[in-house]
This record gives sequence, structure tokens and C-alpha cells, in this order.
Amino acid sequence: MKAAYFLILIAIPFMVTAQFEPNYDETKVPKFTLPHLLTTFSGKSIGTSKQWEEKRRPELFQFFENQIYGKVPGNLDEYSFKVLEQSDKAYNGKARRKQVVVNLKKNGRTLDFHILIYLPKENPNAPVFLGYNFYGNHTVTLDPEVSITKAWVRNNEDFGISGNKVDETSRGIRTNRWAIEKMLDNGFGLATIYYGEVDPDKDDFSDGLHTLFYKEGQSNPKTNEWGSLAAWAFGLSRAMDYLEDDTNISEVIVFGHSRLGKAALWAGATDSRFSGVISNNSGCGGAALSKRKFGETVGRINRSFPHWFADSFEKFDEKEETLPVDQHQLLALIAPRPVYVASAVEDEWADPKGEFLSAYHASSIYQLYGKKGITNKKMPDVNSPVQNTVAYHLRTGKHDVTDYDWDQYINWAKSFIKQ
Ligand code: GCU
Repeated sequence: MKAAYFLILIAIPFMVTAQFEPNYDETKVPKFTLPHLLTTFSGKSIGTSKQWEEKRRPELFQFFENQIYGKVPGNLDEYSFKVLEQSDKAYNGKARRKQVVVNLKKNGRTLDFHILIYLPKENPNAPVFLGYNFYGNHTVTLDPEVSITKAWVRNNEDFGISGNKVDETSRGIRTNRWAIEKMLDNGFGLATIYYGEVDPDKDDFSDGLHTLFYKEGQSNPKTNEWGSLAAWAFGLSRAMDYLEDDTNISEVIVFGHSRLGKAALWAGATDSRFSGVISNNSGCGGAALSKRKFGETVGRINRSFPHWFADSFEKFDEKEETLPVDQHQLLALIAPRPVYVASAVEDEWADPKGEFLSAYHASSIYQLYGKKGITNKKMPDVNSPVQNTVAYHLRTGKHDVTDYDWDQYINWAKSFIKQ
């Protein structure tokens, strides 16, 4: 008896590890039924875009809002912005640069974040890509005039970041991810924000945007209220409030990589002012189907990043089969506006096939609007993009944003943006 008890004790850690070991084997993907886009929760069929907008979209939206990303608890009391600096000499005179501070106020508390904008001088009313960066606006460019954030930043030895503060050492360390000159040369601008100014990326709700909305004595969002992804999405919309009034800017395509790709998708679903949405390697909780349980799973993401989603999402940990929705329905919430899902071959953690299938299955809603989505269920070959209103590519290489990705996004954006 004692020996059996001892054996069980030894076995438990292995059982736990085996349970949480990510699956990378396609033959071990469980059989699952994807929740239907065109059938309501109560079983009614949807046949037109009007029925979709009136019946199905609202119930799906509410599910994602209450059970996955979390609700924003109310409106701001005040919103203002100020152009802190501008110049028309950036990038050797090719670009106009603006640095704008946005100020948000609620319950007597206040939060500032900074938008760095480059616009092609040749195009006085240019479309822009709007996207968060991971380490500060000064990291996306070598431009010495870009101010350095004072906010909390994750330490990174390779980038010379320690003490959760950035300085000159990290200027330009992420230029490889932001093809700014390529954008400018093609008539596009860039607007970027350091995501940590909106909400620092740590499991701690004592700072960032959430705190503005707390009632007396509150220190955490409620179970169905926003996690960090929804806070970042809200920040993108507040950036949009400024961008839509800037007379040098025509349209805004929201972009994000990885966790910020998840935020970009939710921003696209919650705010119809974005003309298009790009999810680069967004994976679990982004474009990838949860029910495939391939690579990162709902349980894994909620354990590693408990602050990203609403607490209510935790009830689906290791129970993806009980989810009445899946991520193709998040993409469908963006319809009929264009959406681009991109994967990388070596980024198995994000489940490239699950990202593709999501784009494929979302396409039925685009069809209702007479728009072309992804029509072939077979995943396209590597480096062979399919660019319709729903677009997808699988590129060679790792979890990253590369010039190849930007070439695709620019090319695709030209197909629907008025320039
Ligand atoms: C982790 C996380 C992913 C996320 C990624 C990132 O790998 O598990 O869900 O997309 O970080 O944001 O870089």
C-alpha cells in the first residue's frame, strides 16, 4: 500500500507535464466540430449579411467580449491630445514626423501614451499602418529625434535593457521589424505606440489603463472585464480618435505581431473605423483555432499570461471542446473589412495550420457580403500568399516580422486602399 502511494506521488509530476506538453503532431489533433458561423446559438440559420449583423454577429461579439477578452467598464471622462513635436525633415526629407501625446482621464486619474508617426511627404493624405511596438518608439527607427519612453519596459540583455528602463542604448534595435522606408516609398505612413504605456505587460493590475476605471477600493477588473489584450485594443482605438482627425492621414490599417496581433484583431472587431486588420503570427487567442490544441493551448496561455484575457476565459482551460465559439468567428467579426492572417513555418507554437483554417472558415461571412475570402481549404505553399479580402501567407523562418511580411501587407493594402 505504502509503495503504491509512493509510486503515485512520483508519477504525478510526469502526469502533469504530459498533460501540459504542447502537441506538435498533426495526427494527435483531436477531432472537433467547429462552431458554425451561420447558425445562431439557438439553432437558427443565417442566410444574409443583414441577418448576420442583426442576429449572429451581436451574440458572437458578446461572447468574445464577456468570456474571452473582457468588457471595457465604461467610457472615459476626458480625452485630449497634443502634437509635441513635428518635422518635415525625417528620413532625409522623405517623411514628415509627428510625436503626439494622448491623455486619457477617468475618475480623477490620468494616463498618457505617445504616438510616433511618419508620413510620406509626397502623399499629403496618406493611409497608415498603426501598430504597437514591444520596447518603445525609439526602437523602431534610428531617428535621433524620437523620444524615449519613461514607462516600464521588459528587461532584455541583448537590447541592453535593464532595471525596466530604456535609454539611448536601445535606439533602433527593432528597425528590422518595421520597414518604414518601404512604407514611405509606397505612399504609406506608420503610426506606432509603445504598448507598455497603455498597459505594462505584467500580471499586475495596479498600473496602466485598468486602474483609471476602478471604483473606490477596487484593485482588479471583475471576472468578465478586460484583461491586457482588451486594454491594448482600447488604446488602439484611442490612437484612432487622434488619427481620424489628422488631415494628413486618410485610412488606418491596424497591425500587430504575436500578442499584439491578438490585440489588433480584437481592436478590428471592436472598432469599425479600422479599414483593415493584419495579424502577424498571432497564434493562440489570436487567429489560431483553439479547438485544435496544437502548440499553445488555452490552458497554457492562461497560466503563462493570466493578465491577458478576462478571468472568465479560464473556465475553458484544457476544455477547448466546450467553447461555443472559435477564433475564425473573431475574424468574421471584422467582416466585411479586409483581414490578413500571416504565419511562419518555424512558428509552430502559434499553429500555422490553425491560423490558416481560421482565415478559411471566416471566409463564409465575407461571401455573404460578396467579398472573396480564402476559397481553397488546402493550405497554400510556403511563400505563396493568397491575397483576397481575406488574405493569408505562410513564410519561411521564425516567429518575427520581416521585410517579406511588409512587402505582402503593402501589396495587399494597395488593393483596397484609396491612395
Ligand atoms: C508567447 C506567448 C504567445 C505570444 C508570444 C508573443 O510565446 O505564448 O501567445 O503570441 O509570446 O507575444 O511574442
